[in-house]
Amino acid sequence: MSQTIVIFGASGDLTSRKLIPALYQLERKKRLDKPCRIVGVSRTPTSDAEWREKLRNTTQEFVGESFDPHCWDAFATTLHYFAGDVEKQETFPKLNAALQSLENGEPSNRLYYLSISPVFYAATVKQLGDAGMADESHGAQRVIIEKPFGTDLETARRLNNDVHRVFLERQVYRIDHYLGKETVNNLLVLRFANAIFEPIWNRNYIDHVQITANEEVLVGRRAPFYEKAGILRDMFQNHLLQLLTFAAMEPPARFDADAVRDEKVKVLHAIRGMSPDEVAVNTLRGQYRSYRDESGVAPNSRTATYAAVRLMIDNWRWKDVPFYLRSGKGMSCRTTQIIVQFRRPPHLMFAKNGGASDGIYQTPEIDANRMLIQIQPAEGIQIHFLTKVPDTDMQMRQTEFQFHFRESFRGELPEAYERLLLDAMHGDASLFARSDEVEAAWRIIDPIQSAWDNSLQSDTDFYEVNAWGPPAASDWIRRFGCEWFDSCPLLNHANS
Ligand code: BG6
Repeated sequence: MSQTIVIFGASGDLTSRKLIPALYQLERKKRLDKPCRIVGVSRTPTSDAEWREKLRNTTQEFVGESFDPHCWDAFATTLHYFAGDVEKQETFPKLNAALQSLENGEPSNRLYYLSISPVFYAATVKQLGDAGMADESHGAQRVIIEKPFGTDLETARRLNNDVHRVFLERQVYRIDHYLGKETVNNLLVLRFANAIFEPIWNRNYIDHVQITANEEVLVGRRAPFYEKAGILRDMFQNHLLQLLTFAAMEPPARFDADAVRDEKVKVLHAIRGMSPDEVAVNTLRGQYRSYRDESGVAPNSRTATYAAVRLMIDNWRWKDVPFYLRSGKGMSCRTTQIIVQFRRPPHLMFAKNGGASDGIYQTPEIDANRMLIQIQPAEGIQIHFLTKVPDTDMQMRQTEFQFHFRESFRGELPEAYERLLLDAMHGDASLFARSDEVEAAWRIIDPIQSAWDNSLQSDTDFYEVNAWGPPAASDWIRRFGCEWFDSCPLLNHANS
């Protein structure tokens, strides 16, 4: 059936940087249903021609070498602009009439993408309902809702209720772009399509798991948003907990939306809650030193730009295996990675061998096996294991098996939005968050955020930009008998 995609927030950054480039790539790969129309809605009056021209430039910039002028010209004819204010009731019947005319009155599947300020989500959904635009008698009507979905459990619940007054859950696609990343999807393949990893993927073999999402970027012009959000709401409630669920969930019986999401929700429900005293022990937060100089930030702001959180999952597979999650802005390098740290061998018969020299360890205290799952930017997997150093008696050194996506599969990895937009058009919600999943994630974050909000000003540690977060973070994890795996990915190797 034909497809109409309506983007609310057409003049926003997300539209030009991600959505239109992703749709263009889908057109280039001939994956869009035909006919397909893309309608941008924003307040500023602009003609179709002007909008197309602006998007041509930005798309060319963001897709780089894969920009093909002929393909763009064909794609551009599908782009239409509608000037309208989502705060005004009259916008919606007029928009509906404009869409029907583009669709020539024929049935069409529609995808409404809310790429607008979250304060307008509930009202926009209601207006869509009032204008009859959620009615499915002439094709599937689906809505994609960007993050943040609420700012805590209560607001997320309220938003879920508001959305469910108009759309059925199966029509709702809450997006978390991490779920569209190839490397995140590959976690499912690694775990559930290979027979050798799953038997050791549990408390008997794994000592702990580290999930890191570090960014070099500073908050910059997003400061007014970030001041209210902070790192927990911006990165943990969604991206980091999504990575955790993929790493920790039980094998779903089928790869379908409900089977996958049921397992993820079970993991979230098994995460142990924390009292304020437990939050003080099991979390650490920081702020990069120049944060308070950013425009839009209060001079005494306590907003965290870095956090480390230790979570325990109370189920058979993960009992007593800590999951250390951390994320920060202004870090020394951009890296998102999952470290699976395996246990040491129960008995080491080599312990008395030879002396240590550079990189060669006598007692392999820190040399248990480790799997590094590089989500970005050096997408791949490494497995660390001990090897005998040649021409020594029995000295050992950590060596590795390597897999790099860009070496094994030539070509660029697709942007997360390509996969997610296509799935939403085809009605596959496996890689989107369900209402109970979003609420379960807030249930984990809320007690931490509120313990922080009610604690002392002095509890925030400061850190220099271009470091690995506050210096106290190393002592914090050492208290639990672990060390952070602080290593920037080797990009030159990965891309060679
Ligand atoms: C967004 C956050 O959801 O994810 C940003 O709001 C963050 O603060 C971004 O920079 C990170 O996404 P990626 O894909 O670059 O890791």
